Amino acid sequence: MLDIDVIDLQHAVLFDLIELMQEGESDVEMCINTLGRYTAMHFKFEESLMRSERYVEHPQHLEMHQEFEARSVQFKQELQQAQSPEARATLLNEVLVFVRDWLIKHIDKVDRHLFSDKNLYTLPSE
Ligand SMILES: [Fe+2]
Repeated sequence: MLDIDVIDLQHAVLFDLIELMQEGESDVEMCINTLGRYTAMHFKFEESLMRSERYVEHPQHLEMHQEFEARSVQFKQELQQAQSPEARATLLNEVLVFVRDWLIKHIDKVDRHLFSDKNLYTLPSE
């Protein structure tokens, strides 16, 4: 938790989506698309805050988001090309573990640094 309500909420939604997919009871295709779109929206939101606050580490942070998005595109292609339901399930599990681990580390280090000065990010709705 970073104690910025809107950011904590967005992160919680991402983890909920991952958990939903790990339970394997929902439409995987739909979950992947939702996860991809939601992540893109969340990254844009953070990036707009970095821009408006002229955050000094904006370029490095942006690069990490872009690397994550590039890896996601690769995973999506690999999932589409998986030859069997078993191969697809194994790969999907790898994807979910990767996304979850990446998010945990990214939030704990990079996002925590970005939002370390809470006064900069008190939004009107809070
Ligand atoms: Fe971030």
